[in-house]
Amino acid sequence: MLPKRDEVLTEMEDYASKHDIPIVGPAVARVLQQLAFMINARTVFELGSAIGYSTIWWARAVGEGGRVIYTDGDSKNAERARGYFARAGVSKRITLHTGDALEFLSEQNEEFDIIFNDVDKDDYPRVLRLVAPRLRKGGLFVTDNVLWSGRVAEKNPRDSSTKAIQEFNRKLAASPEFYTTMLPIRDGLAVAFKK
Ligand SMILES: C[S@@+](CC[C@H](N)C(=O)[O-])C[C@H]1O[C@@H](n2cnc3c(N)ncnc32)[C@H](O)[C@@H]1O
Repeated sequence: MLPKRDEVLTEMEDYASKHDIPIVGPAVARVLQQLAFMINARTVFELGSAIGYSTIWWARAVGEGGRVIYTDGDSKNAERARGYFARAGVSKRITLHTGDALEFLSEQNEEFDIIFNDVDKDDYPRVLRLVAPRLRKGGLFVTDNVLWSGRVAEKNPRDSSTKAIQEFNRKLAASPEFYTTMLPIRDGLAVAFKK
């Protein structure tokens, strides 16, 4: 049922698959884009962009004059992403930042329409502490991998990523600042609406 992607996105999907780059994939990407359409989002801050696959879906969703901030710690990813953005015709809408995404988010003084979280899982609890003041009322905080292949259901997980996602999920679900649902699509997508 998934509509065909254009040449650039298809090439990125192939590249990600061959090089084990964990992109959101087309099903989740469509949800991201639909969420942006639904709240008429014009600004998106993305934490963890890799080769820019999800970034392109956001950039197309915000439309002409919209703005997406790409962040990744790996400059090789950013270089590759830049090439894809040019070919996808969305370069003007995207600002690339290479370095720590959390640090860069903490320096932002504006309120975004959407903040998308897809960084290292150990960082998730820290991301949650940064987000609310940088999101407009009625904006969305969206997070990938909240099911972590089902490992979030473990009673006593040993690995730090599972523990961090569990802590993140509990705190996000209990936060009075957000109205949150967790969509069991692919590896789990948390959608939190800022009240
Ligand atoms: C799951 S991938 C992102 C995939 C991308 N959102 C997509 O779906 O197309 C995670 C990326 O986050 C980057 N990353 C992880 N922790 C980071 C951090 N603290 N600051 C910046 N980048 C980070 C990694 O280099 C990796 O490329």
